[in-house]
Amino acid sequence: LSMMIEGDAGTLNDNQTLYANQAFESAQRMLYLIADLLNVSRIQTGKFKIDRTQVDMPRLISEEMSQLKELASARSIDFSYEGLSSAPLLSLDETKTRQIVMNLSDNALYYTPSGGKVKLTFKKIKSGYAFRVIDNGIGVPEEAKKELFHKFFRSTNAQSMRPDGTGIGLYMVKKVVMLQGCKIFFESEEGKGSVFGFDVPASLSSQK
Ligand SMILES: Nc1ncnc2c1ncn2[C@@H]1O[C@H](COP(=O)(O)OP(=O)(O)O)[C@@H](O)[C@H]1O
Ligand SMILES: [Mg+2]
Repeated sequence: LSMMIEGDAGTLNDNQTLYANQAFESAQRMLYLIADLLNVSRIQTGKFKIDRTQVDMPRLISEEMSQLKELASARSIDFSYEGLSSAPLLSLDETKTRQIVMNLSDNALYYTPSGGKVKLTFKKIKSGYAFRVIDNGIGVPEEAKKELFHKFFRSTNAQSMRPDGTGIGLYMVKKVVMLQGCKIFFESEEGKGSVFGFDVPASLSSQK
């Protein structure tokens, strides 16, 4: 599909480009969903492995953000980054960290009405480093908070906003964050917005 979109099979007209792009995005989403499901299934069968390398977080965040740029602009969301532009390398599983950043950002973009704001931050804190996704979207109702990280759980306000969700993202994110020795962060107020993220302990930094 990406070859077709780039014109390798001949020039496409506007409609053909539109449909090919939509098909490409659907295929991409399906790949992400399969990757999430594989993580969940490996976690449950004890086959889950953390493969640590030295990860450049500001760069990883910027690369994931560029993948979501189009979704953000299609939803008229002000999508920005604030924080360190370079940081010591962190000993993390790069692929899984990308999945975490992607899942939290994707949620913020979908659960924020158009015209809203989603901001990603990466900063030094006392205990190490903190990554956050801050939105001013629909938020999480009080009664839903305790179940939020359970498998397949979706709150009712989210279901109407995005009928095709699965409720496995946050379950996977929390497990994978913990298995890497990091800590999940969550704060939300219904109707005001949410902050989701994780803290990386200084012990995982290359610069002690
Ligand atoms: N940024 C957010 N704002 C409001 N609610 C959220 C946000 N992120 C997650 N949620 C809530 O957590 C639920 C679970 O999220 P997730 O596991 O990613 O599943 P899905 O996005 O497929 O519903 C969502 O259905 C929604 O109720
Ligand atoms: Mg999700």
